Amino acid sequence: MSKILIANWKSNKNIKEAQQWLAQFSPEFTRKAALRPFDWHVVIAPPFPLLETVSSYLDQKKSLPWSVGVQDLSPFAAGSYTGAVSVANLVGLNVQYAILGHSERRKYFAEDSRLIAKKVELCLDGGMTPVVCVDAKEVENQADLLRGIERKKYIIAYEPVEFIGGTISQPTDDIRRVLDQIEDEFGHGQVLYGGSVNPDNVDELLSVEGIDGFLVGGASLDPEAFVDLLR
Ligand code: PGA
Repeated sequence: MSKILIANWKSNKNIKEAQQWLAQFSPEFTRKAALRPFDWHVVIAPPFPLLETVSSYLDQKKSLPWSVGVQDLSPFAAGSYTGAVSVANLVGLNVQYAILGHSERRKYFAEDSRLIAKKVELCLDGGMTPVVCVDAKEVENQADLLRGIERKKYIIAYEPVEFIGGTISQPTDDIRRVLDQIEDEFGHGQVLYGGSVNPDNVDELLSVEGIDGFLVGGASLDPEAFVDLLR
């Protein structure tokens, strides 16, 4: 199975900046892939207003192993929910992945594991793959709430909050311990790591058994740094 590299742009970039990023990333990616074959699937998760820009660009690059993702979803179906983006709103945009329960959603938007479980159901009903984010303290509760869902239908992103948005990732021994806990609670399946992944620590992180890819914030904003993660 390919490793997954997700660019989580968070609330950064406008249309012009997204176009510039794509115009820079695309040739770099192709050049690198030609030099040395690698097995990565890239997911670009822009803010909602930039989905159309990214989606139509990827439409012209069908041969590349790239997909579009969203950073959140409404916990409701289409209807009277002002400001929320439902699964139905995304039809036609080729969205294949949804990051759900990111620690910034939990912290700044008061989302809890129960609400996130609801989003996971809607996401799956909409034919997208949920990327469910958890810190160690959320593993048990989130797993309990997802018991009814087959493990292979969703991806877990392990994101230790205190290591998000910096330059140093969590020590690999600590990551390993939580990966074991994730496997015990959720069962065997794809797990990504997120938290200060950058070109300086990516090799060490790739050596950790059980990491199937990365959810990247800061280093995904710069196309050169992002392409440099493909090892
Ligand atoms: P970071 O963000 O790479 O900037 O630490 C990761 C994330 O929040 O998903």
